[in-house]
Amino acid sequence: MRKVIMASGNKNKIKEMAAILESFGMDVISKEDAGFGHIDPEEDGETYEENSLKKAMEIMEASNYPVIADDSGLEVEYLNGAPGIHSARFAGEDCNYARNNEKMLAMLDGVPKEQRRARFVTVITMVFPEGGRIVARGECPGEIVTELRGEAGFGYDPIFMPDGFDKTFAQLGTEVKNRVSHRARALQNLREQLNEGI
Ligand code: IMP
Repeated sequence: MRKVIMASGNKNKIKEMAAILESFGMDVISKEDAGFGHIDPEEDGETYEENSLKKAMEIMEASNYPVIADDSGLEVEYLNGAPGIHSARFAGEDCNYARNNEKMLAMLDGVPKEQRRARFVTVITMVFPEGGRIVARGECPGEIVTELRGEAGFGYDPIFMPDGFDKTFAQLGTEVKNRVSHRARALQNLREQLNEGI
């Protein structure tokens, strides 16, 4: 099995990724387990593609292993695509998921349903030391609801209702979310590109 380093320490992401890459003869390990936990690239790009590529390249250059990195965000039409790549820190320095959601609901207060369109985006970038790279994007369209709904998941899940459902990600739960989410779609796209044998 060929070792591939995942730039994220998030156990769920590593598990998702390992399940896919295993069938391509690749063994996914976290950057911490690979001994590169001290490398923490700054996410100062202007796009998900730039940020995920930067993370992947920095760790590849240090390790000489193939590396996979991802970057995600929530884009709200009424806010001209914000918070986008800044989703993690939407509510400022001492923000957390609750404050980010509170800020979003306040900014959309009184905005009618048809103007509450939004989408989650994930970009996964995989780079190889011998050259070559795969960039896989996944999007999940939906809308921002008017109050917090549900307990499951993380981040903006309690205020995001994906198209085709009348519940938020936080109400739908992990199993449904993992079938239709932006990350699921990016992983599917990655699988397709690996199948094409890039
Ligand atoms: P990351 O690049 O995957 O770390 O995502 C950046 C930020 O986007 C997170 O801190 C969350 O605020 C938001 N985000 C990304 N994916 C999701 C999701 O599936 N549900 C809710 N929020 C998400």
